[in-house]
Amino acid sequence: MAETTELTSPPAASQAEPTSIFLRACRGLPVERTPVWLLRQAGRYLPEYRALRERHQLLELVSTPELAAQVTLLPVDLLGVDAAIVFSDILPPLVGMGLELEFAPGDGPRIRNPISSTRNVDLLAVPPAEETLQGTLEAIRIVRAELEPRGVPVIGFAGAPFTLASYAIEGGTSRDFTRTRAFMLSEPAAWKRLLTKLTTVQADYLLAQARAGAQALQVFDSWAGRALGREDYLRYVAPHNRELYAAVSRAGMPVVNFSLGVSSYLEEAAGCGGDVVGLDWHLPLDEAWSRIGFERPVQGNLDPAALLAPWRQLRVRIDDVLDRAGSRPGHVFNLGHGLVPQTPVDNVRRLVEHVRERTS
Ligand code: CP3
Repeated sequence: MAETTELTSPPAASQAEPTSIFLRACRGLPVERTPVWLLRQAGRYLPEYRALRERHQLLELVSTPELAAQVTLLPVDLLGVDAAIVFSDILPPLVGMGLELEFAPGDGPRIRNPISSTRNVDLLAVPPAEETLQGTLEAIRIVRAELEPRGVPVIGFAGAPFTLASYAIEGGTSRDFTRTRAFMLSEPAAWKRLLTKLTTVQADYLLAQARAGAQALQVFDSWAGRALGREDYLRYVAPHNRELYAAVSRAGMPVVNFSLGVSSYLEEAAGCGGDVVGLDWHLPLDEAWSRIGFERPVQGNLDPAALLAPWRQLRVRIDDVLDRAGSRPGHVFNLGHGLVPQTPVDNVRRLVEHVRERTS
């Protein structure tokens, strides 16, 4: 296992007040306008991305530093967003653990050897990110060097333990997470070992991304909120998320806790850690923000489907999010989940421009 204690104190640069509006908003500091970036901002809705995908497999894009860096920079150049998120996926860390990952065309991710026994859990490796995910770490170095002079920060990311466990057990994206929940309830000790391994791998990976040059980190817990009720979340997931956020806080940079679908236990999910809470679109922004406390910065929360509506309707929905944020410090404009492939690029461009103009 890699030493993750190298960053016992934050690097000098992060101790000074940040100048970028994204990093300032993540600390609840005043900004001259609301920063904006978008979940899945470098995906298939961009013709430039689709052109690259015609020539390269997804995992090839992810593991080739120059290509991953090129994709990461697309939305910065084309849209002028206020942060770049390194182009990767949440699933590649599973490969180093011994799971066989593929992205079948039009079919989403597949694991060819999903976990079905306690023995499978015990055989999972816990390799250091520096050995298994160098492509992404190198992409971060390239993007950081490119964007540093332009004042645009780089975000690193990873999946939360439950969300990764669900892929490892289901073998793909699931509608109801039955296998995952059955495993969790019938093999609680193996479940704990599985989530402990995943937490170790993810914490190490996030800290490695910080060392490579990431200036903020985001944790995606996409499925715990959909799969579990509050009591099971608190018992089987929250302790691991708390451990992950505690470990990652040593990077000394803002960490975004994005937990999708947790409206019925938002306080508990946000309470696991992270400096900034990423909000999905299920609750009005002001209502969600008041529940976790206005002193905690938030990121969100436009419904990505609004981008499929004509501009007049879209603008009303953007303004609604901005009005609900009010003039409080600590708001990063974003979507409540990722951009979908059929989104018109022009709507995305107008969204970014509108947020800039309305909040300047
Ligand atoms: O621009 C960015 O936001 C960075 C890139 C990014 C990708 N995946 C690239 C990708 C990020 C942040 C992710 C995170 C991710 N991946 C999550 C968490 C966020 C969320 O959406 O809830 C999850 C659950 C995954 C797993 C995953 N990857 C699925 C379910 C799929 C298939 C569905 C889909 O959207 O196609 C992917 C594939 C994937 N990851 C694509 C991209 C751009 C599309 C695949 C392609 O190019 O063919």
